[in-house]
Amino acid sequence: MQALKANIIEQIETAGGRHDEPQIYSGIPGDNGLCGGPDSISWEINGDFASVAVAGLGAILMEVLHPSVMDGVFTQSAYRTNPLSRARNTLGYVLRTTFGTTEAATQVIERVKLVHSRINGTRGDGVSYRALEPDLIAWVHTCIPWAIMRAFERYNRPLSLSEKNNYLREQAVIGRLGGAEWVPESVAELDDYVERMRPMMAFNDQTRQFTDFLLGTSGDVETSRYQRFDSWMSLQGSMALMPDWARKMTGTYHSEWVDRLSFKQNEKLKSKLLRWALPTLPCKTLALKRVNGEPATARQNNDRTNKSSEAILS
Ligand code: HEM
Repeated sequence: MQALKANIIEQIETAGGRHDEPQIYSGIPGDNGLCGGPDSISWEINGDFASVAVAGLGAILMEVLHPSVMDGVFTQSAYRTNPLSRARNTLGYVLRTTFGTTEAATQVIERVKLVHSRINGTRGDGVSYRALEPDLIAWVHTCIPWAIMRAFERYNRPLSLSEKNNYLREQAVIGRLGGAEWVPESVAELDDYVERMRPMMAFNDQTRQFTDFLLGTSGDVETSRYQRFDSWMSLQGSMALMPDWARKMTGTYHSEWVDRLSFKQNEKLKSKLLRWALPTLPCKTLALKRVNGEPATARQNNDRTNKSSEAILS
């Protein structure tokens, strides 16, 4: 069993990074960071790696249903040439902004804003955009806590309405610091906002190519038949967290009984395995010690390089 656990942890770290840097998660005693600290619902939800992992693909696909976001990512991102780095940096952003020291969290937000300040363009249909447009930042921001919250309540434990409202309110701090003027801070606002955004969403040729990439069928990366099947199952399962209209638009809609018998079962099993192997994220352990003023203890297996320190986030 220990070997299986070690193997799962290794796979998680290879794909997503370790996220245990003391310079980011340890620091001044009592520093709760940006999302409220140990008593916040953000620490419980974002500390559940299983929920964050299951939500990831769905959040990404929802983000790029906005054609301006899709164009920015399609034309100006290194996702094709360096997908692992992108995945680690995006996960690192979520974890640092929740569990990092106030200074480290603010720094990463500023660095990513700098990256975004250089991203702009004109879509195929002639619409110009800038990544730092507050409305675009608001949409991308919203997709992340929205998907994670849905994964948590489906595969971890039910959440009360006030817990969900608190989570969105805590996470909104990150969205605003990232450049949004307004982001939904309650379930009612989220539902209303998604309905307002829905007419702007599209599944165009760029989205099709991007989806093919996520599924390992674009030819950019060599994939085995098993890897393609696994990616397909994961994408269907993650999109099963999102509304039916988005699933229909992206070709990931299945009937309720197919969902129940296959994708939801698969995600449930995956969540249980991930939670069993990694019940507490190292960054949350370090952050808890920081807040409580306890010394951070070095990890046993420091023989591997810390793969979460990547490019602009390091
Ligand atoms: C709150 C909203 C957003 C968050 C949290 C976010 C997150 C990130 C992060 C963490 C990175 C750095 C990743 C890396 O270094 O690999 C990044 C880069 C990038 N983002 Fe965003 N992003 C947001 C909004 C947007 C929007 C609205 C667009 C497009 C219109 C966009 C397009 C890009 C592109 C093209 C890159 C460069 C990636 C690369 O070099 O591969 N982002 N974003």
